[in-house]
Amino acid sequence: MKRIVILISGRGSNMQALLDANLPCQVAAVISNRADAQGLEIAGRKGIETAVISHKDFADRAAFDSALAAIIDRFAPDLVVLAGFMRILTAGFVERYRGKLINIHPSLLPAYPGIDTHQRAIQDGIKIHGCTVHFVTPDLDHGPIIIQAAVPVLRDDTPQSLSARVLCEEHRIYPQAVRWLCRNQVWLDEIGRVASDRLEQPGAALISPGLE
Ligand code: GAR
Repeated sequence: MKRIVILISGRGSNMQALLDANLPCQVAAVISNRADAQGLEIAGRKGIETAVISHKDFADRAAFDSALAAIIDRFAPDLVVLAGFMRILTAGFVERYRGKLINIHPSLLPAYPGIDTHQRAIQDGIKIHGCTVHFVTPDLDHGPIIIQAAVPVLRDDTPQSLSARVLCEEHRIYPQAVRWLCRNQVWLDEIGRVASDRLEQPGAALISPGLE
């Protein structure tokens, strides 16, 4: 069975969705860069090994990333899953885990990389927003896409209400992506594209606002 390590920085709701999804893998550890991450407690309660490594204890990104990699490698994971891990990673770290490092981002990439995605989406007046699971590359929030979910942006949405709608879909697509990867039904090919041999249902069209 494949082994995964999950990296978090805070609440850990995506991590929890992964832990609750009965995935065909062993969650070897949950690692946080913040000691106060709520997700650590959730993982601990489920009997999963946890570790904390604070970026504040290191002089620069490269030093933090190599210490982080040393901890990750102790668990010999097949997959490293970023679940709300709010650190920018160095190219060296990303290359080390090529094809094994995935992230979830709260927008339909390549739209809205970075932070405050829901607020920016509302400000721009877009009608369809969503979330993306992708392989991580050195280019922040721009890696090859594995799966996306779209949601409507409603007339009276606030960043909070939109974020809640997107988060529900994050909790559905992240376990699906990890399941595909654990079953070798999705992988990153030699030229950096997502290849697949998976059995998905066709998705439906989303029109927003709806037709009369
Ligand atoms: C999630 O919405 C995730 O997509 C986002 O942080 C939140 C973490 O919530 N990640 C990023 O913005 C990464 N660029 P969680 O800790 O409850 O899973």
